[in-house]
Amino acid sequence: MNILILGSGGREHSLAWAVKQNPKCDRLIVAPGNAGIAAIADCADINILDGGAVATFAEENAIDFVIIGPEAPLAAGVADRLRAAGLSVFGPSQAAAQLEASKSFTKAVCDAAGAPTATYAHFTDAAAARDYIRAKGAPIVVKADGLAAGKGVIVAMTMAEALAAIDDMFDGSFGAAGAEVVIEEFMEGEEASFFVLCDGKTILPVGTAQDHKRAFDGDTGPNTGGMGAYSPAPVMTDEISQKALDEIIRPTMAEMAKRGTPFQGVLFCGLMIQNGQPRLVEYNVRFGDPECQCLMMRLGGQILDLLLACAEERLDEVQANWADDHALTIVVAAKGYPGPCAKGTVITGLDIQPSDSFHMVFHAGTAEIDGQITANGGRVLNVTARGGTLAEAHEKAYAMAQMIDWPDGFYRSDIGWRAL
Ligand code: AMP
Ligand code: GLY
Repeated sequence: MNILILGSGGREHSLAWAVKQNPKCDRLIVAPGNAGIAAIADCADINILDGGAVATFAEENAIDFVIIGPEAPLAAGVADRLRAAGLSVFGPSQAAAQLEASKSFTKAVCDAAGAPTATYAHFTDAAAARDYIRAKGAPIVVKADGLAAGKGVIVAMTMAEALAAIDDMFDGSFGAAGAEVVIEEFMEGEEASFFVLCDGKTILPVGTAQDHKRAFDGDTGPNTGGMGAYSPAPVMTDEISQKALDEIIRPTMAEMAKRGTPFQGVLFCGLMIQNGQPRLVEYNVRFGDPECQCLMMRLGGQILDLLLACAEERLDEVQANWADDHALTIVVAAKGYPGPCAKGTVITGLDIQPSDSFHMVFHAGTAEIDGQITANGGRVLNVTARGGTLAEAHEKAYAMAQMIDWPDGFYRSDIGWRAL
């Protein structure tokens, strides 16, 4: 079959790498892709936020199946547009993507479903939000309601920080995303991510992971999209996973179906675990980046069968079989990330890397210029390795990272510290 993957990051490189291992995959096109993806698939420069353009491209290229990687096209309704054109699509409808695109929507769904999460209040007015913060005190969490590329959450340890966050959000620092805010109770505990496929009826777990959001070692520095991850997450025992399924995920999926907007795709559940009890931090409606790179390394080519079963509402007929092992990924970012960083700097040392089902350097933000691989974004490479233990995966991944010659890049030296 001919497959189209939408996206251009390390997540999409790992999806393409895994899908391509499945014998069902004939032609693979990734739009827009990057220099690493171009080595294993055709890349097409189309506007992936324009559902009509994607549908036309898919028809012209006899595409049988579309996998949508990032949240922006999902929130823009691209999955709906493609389904309307008769295409088979992996990814939720615009209505179901609200689980990521609106924090107040998700809180209301959790209330209706009885899913444990932080207590909260929702505001469209700055004065009322300030009064609420003064009444509740700190620590407290202030969130822009809409999509803010991972930057719309302020975990305020003092009341002054929380009040300043309100000023920023209503002053337009977060654009339209900040016109509404959710203020939440600060939850303590250990964070982990749980990934499940859902076809509207059946739920199939496909792995757990933990990531590192801060830019620098020791979990210091600014928040980023993620500087590394490992899978599985030790805190996600069978018992906690079962609780998360029974108390949070199943009731949420049932509530979405009841509203007439069933969720079909991958649900990325950010959980906070304390005293054996998981609570929801947030949902995302796509694979995590870089968590996906670890999951794909552990799942391999079977992922295509799972994504197809999900799109065709046949999840009750399939099983996820992953190796009982560990994967770890290190994000190599351009100096300056998550702030402004230079593009076009040359990266070498990639051609001597091992590249097999235990070792992969996924490209997150690269472009090929005059035959050389160059940086083309903040997060640039994802050095990923598998091993029988997390320590082994860690050792292999760091050995690979050291082979990269790129003076303009940096990476954290402590990915996985909590579990190691
Ligand atoms: P989010 O974008 O919702 O994932 O939030 C980013 C990060 O903020 C999360 O990964 C948590 O570390 C933290 N966070 C969000 N909500 C809360 C909360 N209610 N209590 C404590 N930490 C939170
Ligand atoms: N790594 C976190 C995310 O993909 O949102």
